[in-house]
Amino acid sequence: MEFVISPKEFQLFREYIYETAGIALSNKKVSLVQGRLSKRLRQLGFSTFEEYYEYILEDDSEVWRLIDAISTNVTSFFREPAQWEYLKAHLQKIRQKNPKKRLRIWSSACSSGEEPYSIAIFLAENLPDFHEWDIKILATDISVEILKKAQRGVYPIRATENLPSYLLVKYFVKKRNERDEIVHEISDSIKKLVTFRIFNLIYGDFSLFSNPFDLIFCRNVMIYFDSPSQQALVSRFAKLLKSGDLLLVGHSEALTKNKEEFLLLQQSIYERM
Ligand SMILES: C[S@@+](CC[C@H](N)C(=O)[O-])C[C@H]1O[C@@H](n2cnc3c(N)ncnc32)[C@H](O)[C@@H]1O
Repeated sequence: MEFVISPKEFQLFREYIYETAGIALSNKKVSLVQGRLSKRLRQLGFSTFEEYYEYILEDDSEVWRLIDAISTNVTSFFREPAQWEYLKAHLQKIRQKNPKKRLRIWSSACSSGEEPYSIAIFLAENLPDFHEWDIKILATDISVEILKKAQRGVYPIRATENLPSYLLVKYFVKKRNERDEIVHEISDSIKKLVTFRIFNLIYGDFSLFSNPFDLIFCRNVMIYFDSPSQQALVSRFAKLLKSGDLLLVGHSEALTKNKEEFLLLQQSIYERM
């Protein structure tokens, strides 16, 4: 059976998604919402979107399935190659600025974990005195389900196929999963650098972060937010960084409104002024 979302139903979902995740859906997204939610309606045995909407209001845990269905969790190891190249040179600056060898990094929409684990592997590979550093990577996302996956750190072959084999040998453990497929699990030495937490970038309480970060990744999530929400979020990031620290965004994202706080160094790489 094909489900069709009415304008009134679309409006209900649109408002609800904006109020819970800050995700702004334009009228062009009607077919996306209809397509992505139809599967769930079918699973739950509903015949209209309104019935599903009522169900979401009653069941807290369904909210996250809804957000998961609407936003994409697509990610990959060492995504945005130009940024990693830039960071290699930036490490010198980090070393000079941190004589105590203490590094705090935030991967703020971490999805299934490839981003924060890439950060940890990158540091292990590129900081010559890596073992002397006190490194903590905070990895957050709005989705409980995706965070569970991230925490497990177990990836199918297709997620790791572009990684050089020496990295696989050093930082992953090859295993077989319950379906007898070969998977790669992040090694404990990398896992222990990353702490996963749920955090909503639009409605979360930023006063929870009592200490600043040295580096913030906020990649491929701001595209979902409207301009005022993006601007407010970037200002909150500004308060958590010191002059000279970096904010990394996705390649198709640009900070157009926060010119007094951030300087564009290179596409998708911003420096706190
Ligand atoms: C496309 S993934 C980006 C993953 C990674 N940063 C990257 O660039 O590969 C977007 C992630 O943003 C999360 N997300 C969406 N809205 C959010 C919000 N309001 N607060 C925190 N995370 C959010 C989604 O759950 C999803 O995992």
